[in-house]
Amino acid sequence: MSAPPPTLDLSQRDQTINLGAGPSSLPTSVLLTAAQGILDHDGTGMGLTELSHRSGTFKKVIEKAEADLRALLAIPDDYAVLFVQGGGTEQFSATALNLLAAHAVHNPDYVRNNNGQGPPCDYVVTGSWTSKAVKEARRLGFNANVAVDARKAEGADGKFGMIPEVSTWNLSPAQSKPAFLYYCDNETVDGVEFPNPGFPIDRLPKEYRDTVPIVADCSSNILSRPIDVAAHSLIFFGAQKNVGPSGVTVVIVRKSLVVDPDLGVEHGGPRIPTTLVYKNMLDNASLYNTPPMFAIYASGLVFDDLLRNKGGVQGATERAQQKSRLVYDAIDASEGILIPTVRQPGARSRMNVTFRIARPGTATPDEALEDRFAKRCAEHHIVQVKGHRSVGGIRTSLYNAVTVEQVQKLVEVMRAFVQEVKAEAQA
Ligand SMILES: Cc1ncc(COP(=O)(O)O)c(C=O)c1O
Repeated sequence: MSAPPPTLDLSQRDQTINLGAGPSSLPTSVLLTAAQGILDHDGTGMGLTELSHRSGTFKKVIEKAEADLRALLAIPDDYAVLFVQGGGTEQFSATALNLLAAHAVHNPDYVRNNNGQGPPCDYVVTGSWTSKAVKEARRLGFNANVAVDARKAEGADGKFGMIPEVSTWNLSPAQSKPAFLYYCDNETVDGVEFPNPGFPIDRLPKEYRDTVPIVADCSSNILSRPIDVAAHSLIFFGAQKNVGPSGVTVVIVRKSLVVDPDLGVEHGGPRIPTTLVYKNMLDNASLYNTPPMFAIYASGLVFDDLLRNKGGVQGATERAQQKSRLVYDAIDASEGILIPTVRQPGARSRMNVTFRIARPGTATPDEALEDRFAKRCAEHHIVQVKGHRSVGGIRTSLYNAVTVEQVQKLVEVMRAFVQEVKAEAQA
């Protein structure tokens, strides 16, 4: 006889508006289904994390998650969908390693003819996460070329907050056969996002665009607008923002670039730890070793919910536009009290709205005011609004699970706070 079931108390959750940057909120209906699944999945008498990952039951779960993601993003058949571990951070090395291996296999004479030097790897650095990706590439000895560092652009003041024009980027010549071009579609820490419809692939030089594999880190804005998968060679995202619990990272990769890295080693390609080899994941349907079962399962429930109940990516796109416009309108109407950290309006993120708070007429961030704003938010059950520790200020993250109504409440608090600060200045 098992103990009587504890009742689920959702009273605090129901009134909380969680604007965390990730891990972040997920739809309650999805979590309730997952709560059942973790105790008894589909009448099997076993919780989802208690059964074999090689069972038919789990295979159904992972196959449905993949099929729904394929439908949501219109992923072509010649692309693999891999569910891997290690987070976005592990993909900083895994993407480069696998694409360098593919380069070595496809261009066996390259390194020998290039005095032992590997192909250039181009990086478009628009925020903290691409900056970290470059650091990792350099640490591993890759030939990383920073095509643009947005901090160094005119008017940037050494901070992230804009996206320089493509024409100013220092891309490697296509003839030098870069292994890839790497970018991050939405920089979570800095609140910088490539303007709709996304990264300007069509503005890259034609030969470059046609020959260089393009890699996108979409960890913090996947499923919030359409993305042209076929124009990319590789797209990856950690789950813990728009998708599901942390623990699983999804890699969507063109199958022709998935190679056995050992075949490239004699041509200067890298050796790759077994679990980072995409081919191992592809050949074993992401079950090479024990996968993060719960994270895959819950992500699958989110895909199902978005696809069948919430209008798919189109529905998410419209809501993301509406929510971010509400917050930016409140910022723009604040007469300099709320100061957006992203100086270029077109590059303002729809997912992570970052701003500082200043007393009227000063234009200087006031940390005491920012603390007071965070407290005011907490009084209204709006939580996790402080900026990333590296940049400070306020960051409100408006991921897919955050509703329009919740954002309207945030905006009420923002407007009331602005009035409070104005009144203090006049007193
Ligand atoms: C855009 C982006 N890339 C990469 C990462 C790193 O992800 P992880 O912490 O899962 O390694 C994050 C984390 O927030 C992110 O926002």
